[in-house]
Amino acid sequence: MPLPDVDRYRPEDRRAVDALYRRVFGNDAADASRLRWEWQYRRNPNNPGGEPEIWIAREGRAIIGQYATMPVRLDVKGREVRGSWGMDVMVAPERQRRGLGEVLFRTWDRNVGASLGLGLSDASYRLFQKLGWPDVGPVPCLVKPLTRRAFRHPRWPMPINRLISAVTWPFVVIIARARPLRAEVRMVQRFDDSFTRLWEKLAGKFDLAVRRDAAYLNWKFVGAPHVRYSLAALLREGQTAGYAVYRHLHEPRGRVTLLVDFLADPEDEEGFETLLRWVDREARHEDSDKIRAFAMHAGFRHLMRRSGYFQVKSTMEFVVKVNGADVAPDFYEHTDAWHVTLGDSDQDR
Ligand SMILES: CC(C)(COP(=O)(O)OP(=O)(O)OC[C@H]1O[C@@H](n2cnc3c(N)ncnc32)[C@H](O)[C@@H]1OP(=O)(O)O)[C@@H](O)C(=O)NCCC(=O)NCCS
Repeated sequence: MPLPDVDRYRPEDRRAVDALYRRVFGNDAADASRLRWEWQYRRNPNNPGGEPEIWIAREGRAIIGQYATMPVRLDVKGREVRGSWGMDVMVAPERQRRGLGEVLFRTWDRNVGASLGLGLSDASYRLFQKLGWPDVGPVPCLVKPLTRRAFRHPRWPMPINRLISAVTWPFVVIIARARPLRAEVRMVQRFDDSFTRLWEKLAGKFDLAVRRDAAYLNWKFVGAPHVRYSLAALLREGQTAGYAVYRHLHEPRGRVTLLVDFLADPEDEEGFETLLRWVDREARHEDSDKIRAFAMHAGFRHLMRRSGYFQVKSTMEFVVKVNGADVAPDFYEHTDAWHVTLGDSDQDR
């Protein structure tokens, strides 16, 4: 069977793409995607030529596959490359396993300076592996317990959960105790230019990270239509020195505060710990049972563990292939200075 044409999305494709999405992912996922679509694909400040970066596989007039992606400016060892998170990839069910996914992945990859995938489905993770993308994940997950309900597990029977709560309680009391803030933290509604300057100052500290300038941060964390984030800025002598983005939610076994994204100088221990303590207070105020975060950077993880977080099993797989900058062969083996969080790609949705 000849392989179909793959080219860029056009506005008139919207209806057919939506119908295919419904068929592949189901109605709930399609409704959720629809709510985010304009923001996620059209309003991204890093869109090349202002157009959504979506690849479409066509057969005649029919659409039989798509790869919808999120362009970002990626800093790699001091160089900026045009990065792109692969997100909603799909092939019509009757056309799967015939090489079409591979054509979509390769077309996308040929057109970007770095192709990245986060939190993948089993099928796409396997395809990335089959095509030889470096596998650098999963991104470590950290949890800080705040109440006796923190250790409950949705699959364990209630008596077991109660016993675990009772046994771990004294220990949670020690971890979750309130500690004083040692720098100033202020809630903000938007990210102003001082955050762009902060990124420029700190970018060199990370071997790989999405450029977190004000345009990106406002789009990602202020303009998102599907969730509402709280934003806290860290101030040092009146200067912006960091931020935390978080939200609170109900899960089947309790309340959780998600520390979605954050930034500070990884060497500014006092500053980052202050941000963590601020998030502790906010979580306690909302009656959360625990705080959950994802962090790749070893320095941040060290400080989080010191602040009462535990590393738990993570399922957030991460693959990345850098095309637009020369990287050493062992680049993908040393990820301790990479900054990747739950706020990256479209993981928090
Ligand atoms: C992921 C997807 C786009 C791949 O497209 P495709 O045209 O089937 O892919 P290809 O034929 O080029 O490649 C096939 C390879 O993909 C992987 N793969 C595809 N479907 C798979 C599945 N159901 N289970 C496990 N691996 C799978 C395997 O590595 C497979 O190689 P193999 O056939 O030698 O085992 C397609 O399977 C799909 O639409 N899946 C449902 C939606 C989805 O999961 N999207 C990813 C969201 S992150």
